[in-house]
Amino acid sequence: MLNKLKQWKRQQTSEEVDDRFQELLKHPIPGHIAIIMDGNGRWAKKRALPRVAGHHEGMKCVRRITKLANELGLEALTLYAFSTENWKRPKMEVEFLMKLPEEFLGTFLPELVEENVQVKMMGSPEALPVHTKTAVKKAMDATRHNDGLILNFALNYGSRSEIIDSMKHVLNDVQNGILDESDLNEEVFSSYLMTKDLKDPDLLIRTSGEIRLSNFMLWQLAYTEFFFTDVLWPDFGKEHLVEAIEAYQGRSRRFGGLQSEES
Ligand code: FPP
Repeated sequence: MLNKLKQWKRQQTSEEVDDRFQELLKHPIPGHIAIIMDGNGRWAKKRALPRVAGHHEGMKCVRRITKLANELGLEALTLYAFSTENWKRPKMEVEFLMKLPEEFLGTFLPELVEENVQVKMMGSPEALPVHTKTAVKKAMDATRHNDGLILNFALNYGSRSEIIDSMKHVLNDVQNGILDESDLNEEVFSSYLMTKDLKDPDLLIRTSGEIRLSNFMLWQLAYTEFFFTDVLWPDFGKEHLVEAIEAYQGRSRRFGGLQSEES
């Protein structure tokens, strides 16, 4: 009896979440959501499991959130999967993390192709193991002609080095007469970044209660709305995505200007 009651309550809640999800579509949806997927290690620790079990569960969550992002009609979903600082982790954990793109894409690529998702990557591919690079390249090639959701993995990504590399590229182009220094502005500089084909994120989500950017998209997040949640990434589900987008829809984005009624 108690179990039946619990099941009924869960069903009620999931119907309520579905209604709220549909309600989101009546208001402006963030075109580009970026997520710092944090808390895999703590998720595993709470269950007395090895840290890598948390990363594996986190990978399943990537699929869940990608599906929802696609249903919402997002233009882009950028996921911080491995930072330039993550190499400092134990070798075994790094090796596991490097296998995840292969496992994820090996399992879900046919679905992503079917769902019109375009897979992209930002970060420095050079240091990645060949098997990781190959899996990502295969997915990028297979989804090249899709024009739906862009699923952008930040892999071996660090924002400061991205900015420095772009500056070097700009200086080079100025020296070679390709770019006139007087033409350099924010828009032109953005076109030198790894995100040149993406709009800046409208919403940044970070899970697990940490409130920092960890060298993620420092330039691109200048006017982004932030949403921090205590939920650990492997537990992040539809209700949490709904909560984040509801919060976004409740914000007034002024980009440094005034609300129209204030002017
Ligand atoms: C941070 O949590 C998470 C990472 C460094 C890895 C994130 C990777 C995934 C979620 C899977 C990626 C999947 C694909 C398909 C590429 P943490 O380990 O720092 O957690 P903790 O702070 O609780 O220790």
